[in-house]
This record gives sequence, structure tokens and C-alpha cells, in this order.
Amino acid sequence: MKICSHPPFLAGLALSVLLVGSGCKPTIAPPAQHEPNYLFAHALEIKEDLSLDQPLSDSQELLQEWFGTLDEPKLPQLFAEDDYKDLLSLSKLQRAAGPPTGTVEPGEKGLYRQLCASCHGESGQGRGPVAASQNPYPREFRLGLFKYKSTARKFKPLKTDIARALRKGLSGSQMPLFNKLPDDKIDSLVDYVIFLSIRGELERKLLYGAAYELDLETDRIYNASLKELNDADSKKQWDGQIETATEILTGIVDAWVESADGVEKFELPQFPLFGSETSDNRVELQGSIAKGRKLYLSEEAACAKCHGVTARGDGPQLPDYDDWTKDWTSKIDLNPTKLDELLPLMARGGMKPQPIMPRNIVEGKFRGGREPMDLYRRIRYGILGAPMPAAAIIKSSEDKGIQAEDIWHIVNYVLSIAEPEMVAPAIEAAAKKL
Ligand code: HEC
Ligand code: HEC
Repeated sequence: MKICSHPPFLAGLALSVLLVGSGCKPTIAPPAQHEPNYLFAHALEIKEDLSLDQPLSDSQELLQEWFGTLDEPKLPQLFAEDDYKDLLSLSKLQRAAGPPTGTVEPGEKGLYRQLCASCHGESGQGRGPVAASQNPYPREFRLGLFKYKSTARKFKPLKTDIARALRKGLSGSQMPLFNKLPDDKIDSLVDYVIFLSIRGELERKLLYGAAYELDLETDRIYNASLKELNDADSKKQWDGQIETATEILTGIVDAWVESADGVEKFELPQFPLFGSETSDNRVELQGSIAKGRKLYLSEEAACAKCHGVTARGDGPQLPDYDDWTKDWTSKIDLNPTKLDELLPLMARGGMKPQPIMPRNIVEGKFRGGREPMDLYRRIRYGILGAPMPAAAIIKSSEDKGIQAEDIWHIVNYVLSIAEPEMVAPAIEAAAKKL
């Protein structure tokens, strides 16, 4: 007997293709659906030894009601409110979503599927058809974590940060640069990334709420299937569900609306920064670079622990994983190197874990930008989602760490060794000191 329903791990593919491929009679293809987050649901199931079948299907109904399908995005009611109406534009989302039309403007649609989905997956699950051979893997947007931003560690990025990643690419990864795209297309894609991320975070939080029956009245919420909507009693339960989900959604969207609060202004130092060298300040700059090197190698800043004394990313630190991998491995007490234990999760979308390597700094590929301020922020805040920690800044005399101003010396050192002509002498000098 041929099975005509699609297995969960293939659900992201167009249903019609599968039906044809499996010999089943093609019917009219339904609108392409977002792939449910089977991976996260199953990770929770393993951790808590429960079944989330019902919450998973309920959450899909709610998500479709609110966010529409892959072809026809919608915005939840919340986005009509004054506080939220400027965050995302439905017409931009419509332009990014759907199958590529290939038409010339103004009717052009399908930008995301045309330019991004082969890597990031149609639902932003980070698992498009060409993702598996990459390292790092294309980003999954559903966790809501972004690495390269001008906001403090815990904050969402600004739209301009995401636009920057698109315009400049992320050098040293497969993320291409889209520097030829006009601003209006970039804007549409940025909105769509945020949209997928919000949708994905809400899905996770609904599943999480169902698994832990948090203070969210989840019992009442998940005992009712949304299909029973016609029934008056269930209508009440449906209202309860909407209320809770709206509360969760509000929290997620607030974080995006408030991202600008995470922009801190940092004073530039009194001493010169790399790139502003003149014959007058050369000696002072060399002094700062030397100080930066000392700090880089120090126990307090701990850079060499991961990046190595030669800054080639070969420090003594044991291999570690990023948060996207930890999410369904170490966080549920599974070892990312024991593949046989991970198979059920890999069948539901987990990608074979790849350790995340500390960057080879001398290669000079800075994904978050190479202006001193970019690197200052990167070192000060660390890289969210990656093992690179925020610098330990001394606030009182008992603290262990470095002074905020010291970061500028480290920035000078990092930039000086990332300049090819400076690499060899700088490394030799660093090695001699040991
Ligand atoms: C060829 C594969 C590929 C394509 C195509 C691609 N990306 Fe990426 N993208 C990546 C990879 C790989 C990363 C992860 C880089 C890392 O973690 O350092 C990434 C990361 C990102 C990030 C995260 C940036 C951050 O600060 O954390 C965003 C946003 C993004 N991509 C958006 C897009 C959009 C929008 C498109 C289409 C216009 C796109 N990407 C096309 C591979 C791709
Ligand atoms: C616990 C390990 C660890 C420590 C300690 C650490 N890093 Fe990193 N660092 C990483 C990892 C891992 C990455 C790669 C992150 C990625 O690709 O997502 C990274 C990336 C970077 C980058 C690349 C940024 C970019 O824009 O692409 C720089 C620069 C950097 N680290 C500098 C430093 C400096 C300077 C220190 C000390 C103040 C430091 N790191 C401490 C692990 C560490």
C-alpha cells in the first residue's frame, strides 16, 4: 500500500510534488504550509517524556490563522495596534513570500523563496536543500537569536543590522552579499526575516507552555482542539487560548519594538584607533596595540583560551556548540557527539552537530563589521548564540576582569593582526613573549 500522507520530516516540501513522486493521484495542491517545528516538539517530548501531538496540531491551526501560509502571509490582530503597527508591513511580507513570480516590478513576489530559502528553509528553519554541506549552517530564525547587531547582548537587532548582513553578507560563511538589491527589496526581506522569527518564537513558546503547563492555563488551552470551535463551550476555551497566545506574542513583539533601547553610545577613547594612524600618533597607537596584545593574552580577557595565542582559533578550549545545536542536544541531556542517540531528532530536522570554532582572527573576516565600533561591541557583548562571551567588565575593585576602556586596546590589537602585512611580525612578537 502506498502511503500518501507525507512523513513529518518532509513536510516542508511542496505536498503536490510528493504526491506525484509517490505515485498518488495529484489533487489540487493546498497552499504551501509552514513546516511545524517537529524538532523542538520532539526535544521537549524526550526531555519530559510526554506527547505533544495535540498541542503541536493545535498550535499549527493557531499559527496559520494568525500568520497565514507560505504563499499568503497574514499579520495577527495585534499588529493593528498603535504600538505595533509600524514594525512590519503586510505588503512587504507579501512581496517577500510566495513562489517567485519572476515578473518585473511592481508585481514581483517571492523574493525570499528565490534568494534565501535554498539555505534558510521556507519557514526559516535553517534547513533548505543546500544547507547540509555548510559550516556554519544557515541560520534558523525560529529561535529569535541574531549574532551581529549594534544592540546590547540581550536585545533584538535593529532592522538596519539585518539589512547590513544582507548587503554585506557574512564573510567566511556561505551567507552571500546582496549588494545589488535595491533598498525596497532589502526592506521586504528584513521584514520577512523578522516575521518568520516572531512566528517561530511564538510556536516554540506555545509548545514550551504546553510541555510545562507554565502559569499559562495550558491545561484549559490545549485540551480543546480548535476544530470544535462551533461548539459554544469550546468557543470559550478558544478565547482563553487566544488570550494566552496573544500575551506570549506581545512579549515577543515588544522585544522587537524595543530593540532601539539596546543601543548604547560608547565614547571613543582618547588614544588613537587603528586606521587613524598619522606620523604624530604612530607611537601612541603602537603602545595601545602592545597593551591590547597583553590584555588579549591575559587570564582576565581570556581571548587566547579560545582563539589561541596566535589568534588562529586554536586555543586550548574544548570544542563547543552553538545554541541552535544545544537546543536539541545538551539542553535535553543528549551528547552532540553521540549520533545514534540523536537519530530520532535528526529525522525531525536536526542537522548533524558541527562544533563551532573560535574564529581565526588573523584571517580578518569579521562578520559583524570591521569598524572599531563594530569590534568594540562584539567584544563587549560577545556573540549571542555562540560560545563567545561578553567581556567581563570591572565594576568594583573586587571584580575580576578588564576595564571598559581596555576593550579599545584589544580592538586595536585585533585589527592590527588582521591586517595581512602586519600578521607575521605581530605573531612572532606575541610568540616571543611566551
Ligand atoms: C548560500 C546560503 C545562504 C543564502 C542563499 C542566504 N543565507 Fe543567510 N545565512 C547563511 C549562513 C551560513 C548564515 C550563518 C552565518 C553565521 O552564523 O555566521 C546566515 C545568516 C543569516 C542571518 C543572521 C545574521 C545575524 O546577525 O545573526 C540572516 C538575518 C540571514 N542570513 C538572512 C538571509 C536572507 C534574508 C537571505 C536571502 C536574501 C539569505 N540570508 C540568504 C547562508 C545563506
Ligand atoms: C569561550 C570561547 C571564546 C572566548 C573566551 C572568546 N571568543 Fe571570540 N569567538 C569565539 C567563537 C566561538 C567565535 C565564532 C562565533 C561565530 O562564528 O558564530 C568568536 C568570534 C570572534 C570574533 C569574530 C567577530 C566577527 O565579527 O565575526 C572576534 C573578533 C573575536 N571572537 C574576538 C575575541 C576577543 C578579542 C576575545 C577576548 C576579549 C574573545 N574573542 C574571547 C569564542 C570565544
